[in-house]
Amino acid sequence: MKVASTSLENKVAIISGGASGIGAGIAKLFVDSGCCVIIADIDETAGSDLASELGDLAQYSYLDVKEELSWAALFDKARQKWGDIDILVNNAGIGSAESIEDVSMDVWHEIIAINATGVFLGCRVAIRYMKESGVKGSIINISSALGLRPLSSTPAYGASKAAVVNLTKSTALHCAENGYDIRCNAINPGFIRTPLLDNALDVAEDPAGMLKGYSNLHPVGYIGDIQDVASAALFLAGDNSKFITGISMPVDGGMTI
Ligand SMILES: NC(=O)c1ccc[n+]([C@@H]2O[C@H](COP(=O)([O-])OP(=O)(O)OC[C@H]3O[C@@H](n4cnc5c(N)ncnc54)[C@H](O)[C@@H]3O)[C@@H](O)[C@H]2O)c1
Repeated sequence: MKVASTSLENKVAIISGGASGIGAGIAKLFVDSGCCVIIADIDETAGSDLASELGDLAQYSYLDVKEELSWAALFDKARQKWGDIDILVNNAGIGSAESIEDVSMDVWHEIIAINATGVFLGCRVAIRYMKESGVKGSIINISSALGLRPLSSTPAYGASKAAVVNLTKSTALHCAENGYDIRCNAINPGFIRTPLLDNALDVAEDPAGMLKGYSNLHPVGYIGDIQDVASAALFLAGDNSKFITGISMPVDGGMTI
């Protein structure tokens, strides 16, 4: 039996929200695996700095995941420079931790627009381009353990991430039923130490207690690293996972058991 290589050489990937945290970790690992990476983010400074750090295989491009035209412009520009796009990681996302009684409508709409509509638009545009170019496409949606196991403190975030799980399955089915060679899978990370989590800790009354509480949510007793999620994304991006589509892969230290 021949095991496929984990190399992504000659492949091209777009990573939304690639300028920070988990997205930046995935960008680094993909470049290390020989992939050309487009870091697509609203944060031009962080995105450009990371692209310079990663070298010739990386490029920054502006993207606001909420805007359909922004997605189309990104894919056009990426295809002109790098050729066909093989991989899309829908990673951009924001958090909120307010109960159903406290969360404002503005926050609810913003969370849904970025975390759910942003993934919907990304899947839609990726299917169009991947189908046209006939690549073996892989779409990876970064959901959350909270999309499978909600907490009372994060109703908007949890609902947006549950939407990603369902959208992933329906996208996978659509591609399979239509004979497109495009897979779509989700990753559901537990708590991971990134700027998103640091921002929540910054405004907490008791950051140490909060971090301990988060750690205790995971049966292993600690929160995860960016590399844990990046490794899962590398597996789902490459040919070793060619028979896997429509799954939600927990990377969560047992949180969703
Ligand atoms: N950190 C965790 O504990 C954790 C756990 C589970 C899931 N996640 C998910 O992982 C993903 C990445 O999270 P992170 O912790 O690395 O966050 P992060 O804040 O470090 O990075 C998020 C990136 O998304 C970008 N972004 C925000 N809005 C955007 C928009 N409208 N268009 C394009 N880019 C935009 C930001 O500029 C930033 O670079 C998110 O979807 C998040 O929900 C994170």
